Amino acid sequence: MNFLPLIESKREGKILSPAQIQEFIREFTAGKIPDYQMAALLMAIYFRGLNTAETTALTLAMRDSGDVLKFPKDKRPLVDKHSTGGIGDKVSLPLAPLLACLGFRVPMISGRGLGITGGTLDKLDSIPGFKTLLPAAQIVAQVQKVGCVICGQTDKMVPADKKIYALRDASGTVPSIQLITASILSKKLAESLDALILDVKFGCAAFMQTKADARKLARAMVALGNECGTNTRAILTDMNTPLGRAAGNWLEVKESVDCLENKGPDDLRRLVIDSAAHLLVQTKKAKSLAAARAFAEACLNAGEPRQKWDEMLVAQGADLKAFNQKLAFDSTAPVVLELKADRAGFVAKCDARILGEVIRDIGGGRLTKESPINFDVGVDQIAKPGERVEKNSVLARLHAASRPQAEEAISRLKTAFEISAQRPAKIPLIVEIIQ
Ligand code: URA
Repeated sequence: MNFLPLIESKREGKILSPAQIQEFIREFTAGKIPDYQMAALLMAIYFRGLNTAETTALTLAMRDSGDVLKFPKDKRPLVDKHSTGGIGDKVSLPLAPLLACLGFRVPMISGRGLGITGGTLDKLDSIPGFKTLLPAAQIVAQVQKVGCVICGQTDKMVPADKKIYALRDASGTVPSIQLITASILSKKLAESLDALILDVKFGCAAFMQTKADARKLARAMVALGNECGTNTRAILTDMNTPLGRAAGNWLEVKESVDCLENKGPDDLRRLVIDSAAHLLVQTKKAKSLAAARAFAEACLNAGEPRQKWDEMLVAQGADLKAFNQKLAFDSTAPVVLELKADRAGFVAKCDARILGEVIRDIGGGRLTKESPINFDVGVDQIAKPGERVEKNSVLARLHAASRPQAEEAISRLKTAFEISAQRPAKIPLIVEIIQ
């Protein structure tokens, strides 16, 4: 393929045809286009953009660059959720078994964390024996039998995105709305979904810092998902403050189990219920969001999703006895230190970015793709904005690998909190629905 005219066309702002897009994705995936030429095209796309037809063609070509999961015909709709990521965002963990109990099939293909953002697979790796790398046939078989799976992308799924994302990372072309939408949706569409709910976060610890940027990304993804034949909706949610009261891989698994046992924090429960409720409406299993919420809530209250969680764990090789023993520990980290309020008042701020940075730096996250993870470190018992605290009330507990590490981290953690005399205005969690 002579790739140069195509780069020049995009450089001049011309429209690429679906056939041209399919060809360059096919050739690049096969290693027949050098990285420097692909990087030049990505930069031209970054500046010139792609229209809807081009973005759709790119997404579908990327989806079809590898295996697309194929499921037998079944009356249970195939659904999933994608979050743009944040601190303490463990929604996928309780959501997958809840959705399975609501009569869905959930092929939840998830990712690992990078930087301050946690990854679902890293959280699951803290469960003794649990396997996140499954062949496509096992993913399909488990979804059919159990109703849900949470695992990583196989080597054969969406290889074009893997190669293109690495180049975007190295060529300064990550922040293009069209390239982001194509990247995220090509992977989700390879799950052959009927419906998808997107949780697009905004705030200091989110990929999109402002609500306006998050809205722009959400609108682009919703339009593209629907254009590609998957019923797609998005919710815009706040990520200035962490979700729930725990952040850190194992601590988040524990909190997810609490949520499944109806003991979890309100904001996590609300996001789990609402994500399920949207999917019920999108697939016409409920007539209104209010009815869908009531249905999802009753299902969670009845306890069946907690059993489904165990069933999913066993199907993916977990040692349930070791898991339950681990759950019984208050902490699995060698050192736990409490951060206490230095005065009485109301929590005015709990900065999710600072929390994320502290957890990453004590080993709970990755600075590079190769960094090892310490699953046991993190923060729990996080006091949330609006809550009343007395002098010496616990604002958070830090779980660390050593005492010197804990002492250094706790002084940084302190800067995440602000206490004021007045109760601050309530920060809404879900601020907008985009459909
Ligand atoms: N996540 C992805 O999978 N792709 C992007 O381009 C950005 C975030």
